[in-house]
Amino acid sequence: MNKKEKQLEQLTGVNSSKLNYYVELKKTTEEALKQNWRLEVLHQLIRDINIDMSIQDILDRTFVRLPQALPCTFMGLIVLNEGDLELKAVAPRDYCHVAHFPKHSPSWQVINSKQAMMFDATQEECSHVWQNSDYPEKLSSFVIAPMFERAEVIGVMVVGRSSEATFSTPELDFISHLTDQMAISVQNSRLYRQVSRTTKQWEETFNAVTDPIFLVDSNYNILRHNDRFTPEISRHWQKSLVNKCYSRLHGRTEPCPVCAMEEIKSTEEPAHRNWPTDSGVLLETYYYPIFNEEKKLAAFTIILKDVTQKTKMEAQLVQSAKLAALGEMAAGVAHELNSPMTVIIGTAQMLARDFESGSVENDSLQDVINCGLRCKRIIQNLLTFSRQDQMPMTDVDLNEQVRLVLGLIHYQINRNQIQIIDQLDPNLTMVNINGAQIQQVLTNLLINARDALNDSNQENKQITVSSFIRHDEEQSWAVISVHDNGTGICQDNLKKIFTPFFTSKDATKGTGLGLSVSLGIAESHSGNIEVESTLGEGSTFSLVLPVPTKANDEPPSNEVIDIV
Ligand SMILES: Nc1ncnc2c1ncn2[C@@H]1O[C@H](COP(=O)(O)OP(=O)(O)O)[C@@H](O)[C@H]1O
Ligand SMILES: [Mg+2]
Repeated sequence: MNKKEKQLEQLTGVNSSKLNYYVELKKTTEEALKQNWRLEVLHQLIRDINIDMSIQDILDRTFVRLPQALPCTFMGLIVLNEGDLELKAVAPRDYCHVAHFPKHSPSWQVINSKQAMMFDATQEECSHVWQNSDYPEKLSSFVIAPMFERAEVIGVMVVGRSSEATFSTPELDFISHLTDQMAISVQNSRLYRQVSRTTKQWEETFNAVTDPIFLVDSNYNILRHNDRFTPEISRHWQKSLVNKCYSRLHGRTEPCPVCAMEEIKSTEEPAHRNWPTDSGVLLETYYYPIFNEEKKLAAFTIILKDVTQKTKMEAQLVQSAKLAALGEMAAGVAHELNSPMTVIIGTAQMLARDFESGSVENDSLQDVINCGLRCKRIIQNLLTFSRQDQMPMTDVDLNEQVRLVLGLIHYQINRNQIQIIDQLDPNLTMVNINGAQIQQVLTNLLINARDALNDSNQENKQITVSSFIRHDEEQSWAVISVHDNGTGICQDNLKKIFTPFFTSKDATKGTGLGLSVSLGIAESHSGNIEVESTLGEGSTFSLVLPVPTKANDEPPSNEVIDIV
């Protein structure tokens, strides 16, 4: 006999009496009212739960409302996660803690049977639960109901009470309904979180790109951008009155005459343009089509990339490759010249022997010999400078290196009406260095000084090369400084001059590598290059090298370093 038939039997059957009838009727009405009230509470709860609430928030909200429909002390939400149970949320929040759910635990029983069940909160059933001592009242019974996602159990909800009264059948039914509702809310919350996380990730990726990105529809409207503008776009952007790409990006009142998006409308393929702006910046612009579900062209992604530096660097690389080739050629020529020079000098020396010293012929031949020897020195220096092999560190007289370099390039410098003053300290000690590399540094510094003087209107053009010893607390340093009274360097450029490829000279003159390579060489000698410069007055570049102290006098004489 089912529940309804039983009730009818009691009200109308042979066992019924008037009193019975009224008592039963009253009970039934009360139960119906209670049921109504519970449904009302359930309804209010559904309204209370928002999609963006966390699982804990949902449980907290339910726990506040639930006592209106059903006395309860505690609620818990346990989810099935990769074959394990996890206590996801508890209300009150610190009521209890479970590290592990043993296989015989009530939660697992409910999951396996897929049926809501009532349990006595005996010691045995709850041995895996650690109850916070702030809640000394012991639970007396609890109901666990399964949460379903379609036919799959995704977890369980626990409702416990400490009062003696056990859960009635209508209460059990109500908890099952409530759990179904909770399952929907938990799934919604999870889906919402998943969607928000994906959106956030996508937005973060979009905004993290430092190049400007725009999303534009097929009517030129800008739908989205990542807030990265080049100075030129910023200007147009602020002035623009309409949200169209041609206005905001290009400052135009009509679509651009050869718009890449128009091209994509017919080809449906990505397009690419180079955009040289008025301010001298070169922007590479990529257009990518976006298709909707019906595979129709819906919008475009435009990505701009500033390639000014890259293009400049490419040009400079070509230039430095040319210079390297030139260097090799120069070395080849020097090598070829070496033998004829030896013959010229030898022959002149032999001839000179036939003439008395002091005679016109002898004097002329001495001139030939001296000039020949000078040429040989120049050739030798050129060969040393262009040598690409590894050079050992040796004890070297720094002044000698300065003289060698000056011998090689003083003609190029003097030719430009520049006076070279040398103030070399004769007491400079020997320094353990790679001679060829230090010559390379000095050449760079001298050529830079010459260029700075050529670019200035200074009448009395001078380069002063000095060498001296500087002492500080722990170390002595040999310094060679190259001072010029040329253009000087502005504060902005001063920060950049050691950056590879930075040059203020035009592409045929400068590579922007001189100082960066020189600094590399100085640092490989544990030294440094110091700069002092005043715009319009001149600059001093100092190569500072450590002098071995008596204590660590052991020079790393056979250490070999690469020529940069
Ligand atoms: N003595 C100097 N006076 C003024 N500017 C200098 C001097 N030396 C270097 N600079 C600046 O530093 C830049 C970088 O020098 P460098 O690395 O040698 O490259 P490059 O000489 O090929 O331009 C130069 O373009 C110039 O602007
Ligand atoms: Mg240079």
